[in-house]
Amino acid sequence: MSFRLLHYSDPHFGASDERVANAAILIAQHLEPDLTVVSGDFSMRGRKWEFEAAQTWLAKLPKPLLTFPGNHDVPGLNQLADRFFSPFRRFRKYISEVEEPSAKLGNVGALCSANSSTPFGLHLDWSRGFLGPMQAHAASTFFADLPEDQLRVFAMHHPVLGSGQKARALVSPMPMVSSFLQRSRVDLVLAGHFHQSKTALFPSPNSDSRSLVVSQAPSICSTRLKGEPNGFHLITLEKDAIEIELWRWDLDRFKPSYTRSFQLHENGWTNA
Ligand SMILES: [Fe+2]
Ligand SMILES: [Fe+2]
Repeated sequence: MSFRLLHYSDPHFGASDERVANAAILIAQHLEPDLTVVSGDFSMRGRKWEFEAAQTWLAKLPKPLLTFPGNHDVPGLNQLADRFFSPFRRFRKYISEVEEPSAKLGNVGALCSANSSTPFGLHLDWSRGFLGPMQAHAASTFFADLPEDQLRVFAMHHPVLGSGQKARALVSPMPMVSSFLQRSRVDLVLAGHFHQSKTALFPSPNSDSRSLVVSQAPSICSTRLKGEPNGFHLITLEKDAIEIELWRWDLDRFKPSYTRSFQLHENGWTNA
């Protein structure tokens, strides 16, 4: 028995391509996933009309649907009162009342999410992502209640994998995040934010730690592209196998691009 999870990210209404956004609805309806996850950045600047457009789009995606905020879902500096006193008011009104939802993945496993976006902090770069100790504790407790043979999927907007300049944009503090993922025996992490597809093992198989699988999805329909076209991941989960298929926008439609497969062994995940 397998479970098919459609992983969309970063639609960015306010800076989205309407034709691609509509095609994303059609392909999702055609693929009939067991669960659709959209990993944050629904709006561009947290404006009301952007959230309304996102709400209309989400209503057409297959259900069940699971969402959590990205850094662009916090109101901009022109909405200071909201930014500091109710940063996720519009997310809750238009996208979902729950900021950190969880879901059962058939009989294969379960997913727990966290809101890694913060409206303020001791830094000037407000696009950065954080996972607090209370959030890690809540997710650990969620996973601890699962039977041993169930897959554990953790989802947030900010990525765990990047290199060079991108290392700054990873969720932090990375030592704590990494230790939580290891302790909780997480099998798969879902993230977005970079607008680039990445499917890989984390940490790398050369390390002493147990490797897990990462799915960092590209932007589904934003016009703010970072060197690669719009796209998404279609993930097939089995208790001991994960397959991630990248679909890319190609001229006038989404097409399957490549597939990566991973296998579970006693000491963690490896490339299949
Ligand atoms: Fe984004
Ligand atoms: Fe982002």
